Amino acid sequence: MCIFAPMKTNVDLQPYNSFGFHAVAKYFAEINDIQELEALIHSDVFKNEKYLILSGGNNVLFQEEYFDGLVVYINTKGTKILEEQGNDVVVRAQAGEDWPEFVKRMVSQSLYGIENLAHIPGKVGAAPVQNIGAYGMELKDSFLQCEAIELSTGNKRVFTKKGCRFGYRDSIFKSELKGQYVITSVDFLLKKNALLHLEYGNIKAYLEQNGIESPTLQQLHDAICAIRDAKLPDVKQIGSCGSFFKNPVISVAQFEALQKDYPNIPHYDEPNGKVKVPAGWLIEQAGWKGWRNEHVGVYEKQALVLVHYGGGTGHDIVELAKKIQVSVEEKFGIRISPEVNLV
Ligand code: EPU
Repeated sequence: MCIFAPMKTNVDLQPYNSFGFHAVAKYFAEINDIQELEALIHSDVFKNEKYLILSGGNNVLFQEEYFDGLVVYINTKGTKILEEQGNDVVVRAQAGEDWPEFVKRMVSQSLYGIENLAHIPGKVGAAPVQNIGAYGMELKDSFLQCEAIELSTGNKRVFTKKGCRFGYRDSIFKSELKGQYVITSVDFLLKKNALLHLEYGNIKAYLEQNGIESPTLQQLHDAICAIRDAKLPDVKQIGSCGSFFKNPVISVAQFEALQKDYPNIPHYDEPNGKVKVPAGWLIEQAGWKGWRNEHVGVYEKQALVLVHYGGGTGHDIVELAKKIQVSVEEKFGIRISPEVNLV
């Protein structure tokens, strides 16, 4: 019989999910190095139980109060420069590194490429899974490759950028290979010098208001942190998963029909004759912004974010999300879908 020593039983996952819901895991294993992961994969509990790979828990909603299986919490640490050539720097970060801390460190070392993704809660290993994005940049823009372990065999595999099939909040790890691999490290291609991306939303307005004409890398990083803080809840204070829904992508024809009724509808043009519409705007127009009951609600400063004020369950959020979906669909004929992983 193969036993994985550091395994715990009946662990409350409340500290491990940013919604802050209580959910007890039958088994819980914290992974601090790759050897532990390899040992775990060959253990009997791993072979016999259903399992969930948990990273920062910033994009997961536990619907039930008991997880009848094994939660594998990835907490491997380490960052190193692998290669420097001209303007290019390749940096490897282990999956359990804290994402916002990693971005902060790269910015303080004057490395460009991930500054617009500052302050997104989560861990490095989860970032490629949903191709995190913000303020006009996505993870894929500075992603080189990642290493992952196949859970059924323990074999290592390198995924190139192409192999990851990145899309909007999407990758192969969320689709074809869902639940089959665990990402153990990510290599980034960063730059010693690059243009800053200031075009998105209110970045320029914020910089102007603060008397910054041509920002440094550090100033842009700090501006993004401040803009996010003003709009999004601090998960240490109010439970949330950031954006709960994805921004829906609709046809130009459907968009033009909507624009007749709502001339000010915000939108972003997408390739292939499609248009992306902000779900936050649709939810606000449907009257949900700031709605709350005792336990859960729709954040008053950003309607895309569902929040847990305490004392609620994942089920409360699911019920709220369903009501929002129905009312948005009734009003606009658009079905919005969750970005968050429902477990
Ligand atoms: N809007 C409203 N009401 C709201 C929220 C937004 O009318 O309550 C409108 C805004 O006025 C703006 C538009 O919708 O015209 C877009 O809003 P915003 O720039 O805040 O971005 P978003 O589309 O709501 C996306 C990402 C965020 C990311 C921001 C900034 C998704 C699902 N969400 O939100 O990502 O931080 O852009 O780049 O794509 C996350 O994934 O957890 C996340 C926070």
